[in-house]
Amino acid sequence: MGKTVIVAISGASGVVYGVRLVEALLSRAVDVRLIPTRAGRQILSHEMGFDGQDWPAFLADRPAESHPDSRLTVYRPDDLFAPPASGSFCHQGMVIAPCSMKTLGAVAAGIGGNLVHRAADVALKEKRPLILVPRETPLSAIHLENMHRLTLAGATMLPPAPGFYFHPRQIDDLVNHIVGRVLDQLGIPHRLTPRWGQVPVSANRGDGNVS
Ligand SMILES: Cc1cc2nc3c(=O)[nH]c(=O)nc-3n(C[C@H](O)[C@H](O)[C@H](O)COP(=O)(O)O)c2cc1C
Repeated sequence: MGKTVIVAISGASGVVYGVRLVEALLSRAVDVRLIPTRAGRQILSHEMGFDGQDWPAFLADRPAESHPDSRLTVYRPDDLFAPPASGSFCHQGMVIAPCSMKTLGAVAAGIGGNLVHRAADVALKEKRPLILVPRETPLSAIHLENMHRLTLAGATMLPPAPGFYFHPRQIDDLVNHIVGRVLDQLGIPHRLTPRWGQVPVSANRGDGNVS
């Protein structure tokens, strides 16, 4: 087994980022510990038509293939006895994707009210990578202050703001670009998105025409 990564999906728009991240991690020999919040599950249902119950069946219906040595464990957000709640549980990083402003605020305030908040708090105190994909627009001073506070505490803010310099053609390209940047932060190799200087970007102008 390779790395262990905690993924939380909170109730912000863009749950596909969390789903795509889980798929990408499971396509490698990664032990994924997944914590969808209650609101996260509601938005999974609204945006992706998935009620958040049977993850193996949901993922099996999607195109990405799982690595035989990968593993997925799903926790309830109120399960404060779960391993990610403890600093003695070793992992190589935690990602909250997407991260709602509620979850962002709770983590910034150090409130371990549910398993997501607690696991993030633990990641910070244990100096393990904590990557947040915060989704809201526009941002208030409170949101920005919380992001600043978390950045000072050691977290990485990775907003879902894809670059258009690689000429994306479909939504998948935009999602993969962000998920690829998350994997870069975790030190996990991937081919989700081209790297600047590796492909001739003029091949796809992004306007539906290939030059
Ligand atoms: C359809 C829908 C989309 C939402 N999108 C966002 C969003 O993008 N960002 C955000 O901060 N909250 C969003 N919310 C509000 C959160 O779901 C709400 O604050 C919730 O309490 C967050 O809980 P959680 O952080 O425990 O998952 C959305 C709610 C709904 C119903």
